Amino acid sequence: MIRHSAHPQAPGLEVTDLNKSFLRRGDRLEVLREVSLTVPPGGFISLLGPSGCGKSTLLEIVAGLASADRGTVRLDGHEVRGAGAAGYMPQRDHLLPWRTLLQNVMLGPELRGQSGPVAEQEARELLAHFGLAGFEASYPATLSGGMRQRAALLRTVMYEPRWLLLDEPLSALDALTRLELQDWLARLVATLGSSVLLVTHDTREALLLSDVIYLLSERPATVRGRFVVPGSRPRAALELTSPAMVQLEGALMNALLVKA
Ligand SMILES: Nc1ncnc2c1ncn2[C@@H]1O[C@H](COP(=O)(O)OP(=O)(O)O)[C@@H](O)[C@H]1O
Ligand SMILES: [Mg+2]
Repeated sequence: MIRHSAHPQAPGLEVTDLNKSFLRRGDRLEVLREVSLTVPPGGFISLLGPSGCGKSTLLEIVAGLASADRGTVRLDGHEVRGAGAAGYMPQRDHLLPWRTLLQNVMLGPELRGQSGPVAEQEARELLAHFGLAGFEASYPATLSGGMRQRAALLRTVMYEPRWLLLDEPLSALDALTRLELQDWLARLVATLGSSVLLVTHDTREALLLSDVIYLLSERPATVRGRFVVPGSRPRAALELTSPAMVQLEGALMNALLVKA
């Protein structure tokens, strides 16, 4: 059940009745209509929807980088006004090409004014934990796609590990690397205890990683359904072949294909 206008002190992330339109060449483009969702502390929630429906716009508003026309975003009871409360990984951006991997990862602590030796030591340890040891001085262009995405995720985690807003972090990767990184991401967030809001258009990715999937309609995005994924995380890819999962996958694919 979607909780509307929950108690202002309620913990977690609460998105309530968001509406957003853009003005384009004099026309109003309605992108979000009455979108409400909840991410409980430690939860992994996915937003699944067709391309162009408004997923990135929604995540930008949740991240505090864009404003809604109406509606609220609350994190642990406090209204989000401006960026910085959560770790946000945009769909496009990724690493700064003129910075080494270590310098890219240190961006978060720098932005927080905490770029001393302690933070650098932590970054080095995390780079090793992320399978990037030995590449601290490498520039992004010299790394594989999978390594770059892991580094971009690490930069996000260095900024704020408790709340992660991830916009299609694995979509640009080839199928095998994506599978590997899905598995890695599932274990990473379980280890860190992060709360995650993930945007994806990949049904299987949402099933593999999430506790709950919100299915969005075509633009303007509305919440068409909220699906609880059976079983506990982190899941192995093989669990997607269970009858309950196959049935849920079918229901999600069908809902994605059939226009609202
Ligand atoms: N800043 C903007 N100004 C005007 N239109 C925008 C802007 N940002 C996004 N849009 C439009 O809003 C719609 C939703 O975009 P987006 O949120 O990126 O979708 P998704 O991430 O689901 O693919 C698209 O039609 C896009 O062109
Ligand atoms: Mg997008």
